Amino acid sequence: MSLLIFGSTGTLGRQITRRAIDEGYIVKCFVRNLRKAYFLKEWGAELIYGDLSLPETIPLCLRDISAIIDASTSRPSDPYDAECVDLDGKIALIEAAKIAGIKKFIFFSVLNGTYHSHVPLISLKLKIEDYLIQSNLNYTIFCLGGFFQGLIGQYAIPILEKQPIWTANETSRVNYIDTQDVAKFTLRSLSVADTTKRRFPLVGVKSWNSQEIVELCERLSGQPAFVNKVPLQILQFLRALTGFFEWGKNISDRLSFAEVLVTGPDMTADMSEVYRILSLDPSDTSTLERYFQDYFGRILKRLKELNDEKEKTL
Ligand SMILES: NC(=O)c1ccc[n+]([C@@H]2O[C@H](COP(=O)([O-])OP(=O)(O)OC[C@H]3O[C@@H](n4cnc5c(N)ncnc54)[C@H](OP(=O)(O)O)[C@@H]3O)[C@@H](O)[C@H]2O)c1
Repeated sequence: MSLLIFGSTGTLGRQITRRAIDEGYIVKCFVRNLRKAYFLKEWGAELIYGDLSLPETIPLCLRDISAIIDASTSRPSDPYDAECVDLDGKIALIEAAKIAGIKKFIFFSVLNGTYHSHVPLISLKLKIEDYLIQSNLNYTIFCLGGFFQGLIGQYAIPILEKQPIWTANETSRVNYIDTQDVAKFTLRSLSVADTTKRRFPLVGVKSWNSQEIVELCERLSGQPAFVNKVPLQILQFLRALTGFFEWGKNISDRLSFAEVLVTGPDMTADMSEVYRILSLDPSDTSTLERYFQDYFGRILKRLKELNDEKEKTL
């Protein structure tokens, strides 16, 4: 089966690409910057130039492809707003997939999306979910909460660098998941007919709030955290302010995304059906404790080695 992966240079997409290559799929990656994506070629993927903000680049890339895995999303640094990729680009992709006779289309959406349909990025996800469902393609939609990998920059690095951690006063609980596990579920779904034309949650085994993550990082790093709590009203004020200016639209969209964690219901879900359909075992899913243990273990060992080397040279 030949796969075309979108977003393969991203946090999730690269894990899907890595695993798909290891599992023996023919893997092609739709990338807009060939140089940045060179590591994927070294892993064994074929790079195909394309850009979701340029819909005319899409159709030719779908030749000889059986399945599409779309892990792309616009970057806050992009010069255009999210609609360009997360709505117009995706619609162009779905239309091209229909014409090309793509056998399976996997899309990643957001957990509890309908609760947050006022958030611009989430409303785009919901529109694409609807579009896919109407499309007659054999889709599978996975609804995600948050990734372990995103917590490194938010909590672990500030603690190690003795920088403040910015968090809201109260946060919802989130079942964060390792992107390597998302890759495992995604690729398994390609060979399970019961996943066709279905929508599933895809979350980790345990839920965490911000305070608990801080405490976990403090315990595993042996260092205290400096936490700055931002009241919800300030987040809302900043969102309104940045949204007022054209240059601030992407920032405003991301801030309203941050509000989701403060104002919404917990980002948790029952995964028993997913484990059953995919014949996977929850005990094989990574835990956040183990993930941070490995991370801090590696970093603290490296810092000690650097310190020892420095002392030797003095
Ligand atoms: N991160 C989360 O916590 C979270 C939560 C819920 C759902 N999701 C969804 O999960 C998926 C993966 O998220 P992620 O955090 O891994 O994303 P990410 O790290 O931000 O990566 C985004 C990917 O999309 C690509 N991309 C952006 N604009 C493009 C364009 N115009 N043409 C082609 N490719 C383009 C990027 O390529 P470049 O490297 O060239 O920029 C990159 O490979 C997304 O659908 C996201 O909405 C994520």
